[in-house]
Amino acid sequence: MTEWTGIRACVFDAYGTLFDIHSPTARVADELGEKSQSISDLWRLKQLQYTWLRSLMNEYVDFWQVTGDGLDYALAAHGIDDPDIRQRMQNLYLTIDAYEDAVPTLTALKERGYATAILSNGSRKMLDSAVKSSGLEPLLDKLLSVEEVGIYKPDKRVYQLAVDHMEASPDQICFVSANAWDCSAGANFGFQNAHINRFSQPPERLPGAPRAVIKSLSDLLPLLAQR
Ligand code: LAC
Repeated sequence: MTEWTGIRACVFDAYGTLFDIHSPTARVADELGEKSQSISDLWRLKQLQYTWLRSLMNEYVDFWQVTGDGLDYALAAHGIDDPDIRQRMQNLYLTIDAYEDAVPTLTALKERGYATAILSNGSRKMLDSAVKSSGLEPLLDKLLSVEEVGIYKPDKRVYQLAVDHMEASPDQICFVSANAWDCSAGANFGFQNAHINRFSQPPERLPGAPRAVIKSLSDLLPLLAQR
């Protein structure tokens, strides 16, 4: 792959990209038993669906509420009614694991002179807590939350937050997401986009295509040389 030129800032999606969305459920997998992965998958699916549906309904509530609602749905769909485990699972989102490639890649990007940020559906409280507990905090210049605009991705006002806060034009921003739909929308907005395909997703049939599809965050490093 050829090097990308003109990039000033690297902006990362949070959940699924830097943070392992299955780690909260994995920590209680022994208690959930064989339903554990299915619960985690449905939790994530409903969490995302509720962001899109609430945006269309003009009924924004923050991502903590949406995450809890998605969890309630997923547990109910699996016949689980246990307020204690439910509360523990939601609270585990505050100390969610970072993927192993996150710290080394962010460290290398900072050494190369790039500004770094998270751009996420996550509430500020959730993002603050996750970056502190995972050790990512010193490697990120900014945490950008949809809270500021009161609507979820893929609304363009969300992507505009990166332009406004990073003082860079869309094509000077490398936007990295593991969510293929987020990549399409980011590319459609004008970002130079890398899809980290952690979940082996086929390309979305949506406007906007990623400039690169990578397997690990470390695959960004050959693309982004010293500034
Ligand atoms: C986020 C979700 C989309 O962090 O993963 O914005």
